[in-house]
Amino acid sequence: MPAERPQAPFNRRDCRVAESHTAGGYRIFTLIDEEGPEPAPGQFYMLTTAGTAPGFSGRPFLPRAISVARTLGTRGSLRLEFLIDEVGPGTITMAALGGGDSCGLAGPFGSPFSMPKELNPDAVGAVLVGGGIGIAPMAVLRRHLVSRGVPTRTLLGFRDQAHSGGVDELFGCEETRLAYEDGSSGHRGYVTDLLLQILTGDDTGGAVIYSCGPPAMLEAVRVLAAEHGVPVELALESPMACGFGACFGCAVPKTGGGYLRLCIDGPVVRGDEITTAMAGEVG
Ligand SMILES: Cc1cc2nc3c(=O)[nH]c(=O)nc-3n(C[C@H](O)[C@H](O)[C@H](O)COP(=O)(O)OP(=O)(O)OC[C@H]3O[C@@H](n4cnc5c(N)ncnc54)[C@H](O)[C@@H]3O)c2cc1C
Ligand code: FES
Repeated sequence: MPAERPQAPFNRRDCRVAESHTAGGYRIFTLIDEEGPEPAPGQFYMLTTAGTAPGFSGRPFLPRAISVARTLGTRGSLRLEFLIDEVGPGTITMAALGGGDSCGLAGPFGSPFSMPKELNPDAVGAVLVGGGIGIAPMAVLRRHLVSRGVPTRTLLGFRDQAHSGGVDELFGCEETRLAYEDGSSGHRGYVTDLLLQILTGDDTGGAVIYSCGPPAMLEAVRVLAAEHGVPVELALESPMACGFGACFGCAVPKTGGGYLRLCIDGPVVRGDEITTAMAGEVG
């Protein structure tokens, strides 16, 4: 049964930027949402900026999908924290906004993560695997699970220090294991090396895996989980123009034929719902 999802108000609303600051190689960008419901872990928003990015011919033309990384406060004065990687005109114009500026927001959209027992009735704990900017939904999921008493292990992987950030602020001193491909901190290599250690060293009968990150990492997680018979949910990405099912820009093939629209059928999907996590890759 799909996890229950909070419903987005039927409008795009202007939200005040509370603050914006760098966090390692990324940026934490905070908006005050006075209208929307509290999002569930794994949901995302479509963010619209009024400005244009220098050198990008008037772009961005369309909103950009961004996962919520942390929620503070309650409905009526929600603080929504986003972790931003400045890779193009949309995220560059977001990063240029400062406290008191305004940003267009629609959402929360998409299907959230399930609780472990919905995926495995014998579940006793969860393993979270985040890579790069994909640590954002892992941060909000981790707090959700820990606050409900679910034993949770968190594995985070980055290419290098320039392509990482937000770990201290979003995960605090909670126990996390880090992997850097360049060996600058933690394990030298892929975060999936750490996952393999857990899957081969433990009794995996009570495990559930959740993951978000680059497509190649998600595909490795999907395959490892399948090989070890562990249920897995993956938060996928694909180009999104609308965020609510109208444009079909986010369609990816599903197991057994047909397509999933990732904005409404995802972005969180079970590993067995797709034949590859690489389908939404851009470029
Ligand atoms: C559900 C969801 C949640 C997301 N959450 C986050 C988040 O929390 N934080 C975050 O920073 N991002 C997040 N993203 C990703 C973000 O929405 C995209 O990276 C978005 O495209 C950024 O917009 P941009 O204008 O800054 O960059 P774009 O110009 O769209 O470029 C993004 C990247 O894709 C490449 N690219 C774009 N178009 C092409 C093309 N045609 N061919 C080859 N390469 C191309 C660019 O080189 C660049 O590296 C999320 C995406 C989804 C779908
Ligand atoms: S983004 Fe438009 S249908 Fe999914």
